[in-house]
Amino acid sequence: MTITLEKWFKKETYKKIREEQIPDFIKPYSARTYPNILKSIGNTPLVRLNRIFEDIPGNFYIKLESGNPGSTKDRIAHFMIEAAEKRGDLKTGGTIVEATSGNTGFGLAMVAAVKGYRCVFTTKDKISPEKLAALRALGAEVEVCPSSVSSSDPRSYYARAKQLAKEIPGAYYVNQNFNRDNANAHYDSTAPEIWRQTHGHITWFVAASGTGGTISGVARFLKEENPNINILGVDAKGSVLKKYHETGVFDESIVESYLLEGVGKNIITGNTDFDLIDQFAQVNDKESAHMVREVAHKEGILVGFSTGAALSAIRHVKEQFKPDDVIVILSPDHGNLYFSKIFNDDWMKEKGLL
Ligand SMILES: Cc1ncc(COP(=O)(O)O)c(C=O)c1O
Repeated sequence: MTITLEKWFKKETYKKIREEQIPDFIKPYSARTYPNILKSIGNTPLVRLNRIFEDIPGNFYIKLESGNPGSTKDRIAHFMIEAAEKRGDLKTGGTIVEATSGNTGFGLAMVAAVKGYRCVFTTKDKISPEKLAALRALGAEVEVCPSSVSSSDPRSYYARAKQLAKEIPGAYYVNQNFNRDNANAHYDSTAPEIWRQTHGHITWFVAASGTGGTISGVARFLKEENPNINILGVDAKGSVLKKYHETGVFDESIVESYLLEGVGKNIITGNTDFDLIDQFAQVNDKESAHMVREVAHKEGILVGFSTGAALSAIRHVKEQFKPDDVIVILSPDHGNLYFSKIFNDDWMKEKGLL
């Protein structure tokens, strides 16, 4: 019997193949060998936190999405592009256009490189230099826009992305804030992984909310399995999410600029299912940056700025945890994207965070 590599990697086929049928060149690496980088997305580790929350009851685990080639956004990038291809919205030779704080752009640029699309992105001027360099290294064209303007301003990164999508022939505007395939990607992969990794014992899920895709997709799956699981959303001071969740009022007057990347919003996105989120904690730049440093020192784990926000949120609601709780905190990206910021004392001093 001869089989193609592509078929060989399909799960069902894999189960049926006997050891002697595995080609020799692939044997030593069989479990972790992939036909392309996109197939290596997902199946990220869940790691117990042993020291950082010693003073708080409960069992704390961190879902390290830095185990992806880029970040947690690789999952949505792959899912959204394949869905667009299936619908016929993105065709051969087309251009992927998106407004991104960096990580979604990385995932999209990776998908585009494998599949042969052009990528044009807009981003905010507060993006870390490491993220901007990574986008350009993957061949994306990036326009940097001011972060201090409102979402409706024609100079904002949203407005510029929409404009570029209109101007470029064959453009597909991904629109992660409103494209439901964003949340669907997490429903499809992130959530079932967490459910399996905790053997269904999870009682709390904690995630920073930006587009809302992660928290909403994961929450939908978990609440279907067990409606009693607590979903804690993490918002940034200067963002509208917490107030909107509590009052139903979209209050633009509370919007102010902050340093956290990917956390909070100055719009209400179509991917945030507020009814699935039990509560929001609102955290600031300083406490989030210090949590990033603390988890590195106490657990040996390098995480990004928004993970610091999620870890900080644990302290905000600490009196709600019980000794038997199993709390999963999602860590979207790796600390190595923030060496020039959180791990740089000069930057920390300049921003008044030290
Ligand atoms: C670093 C980082 N953390 C958290 C988030 C928030 O995730 P979501 O957009 O799924 O709400 C993002 C989104 O851009 C991000 O880039």
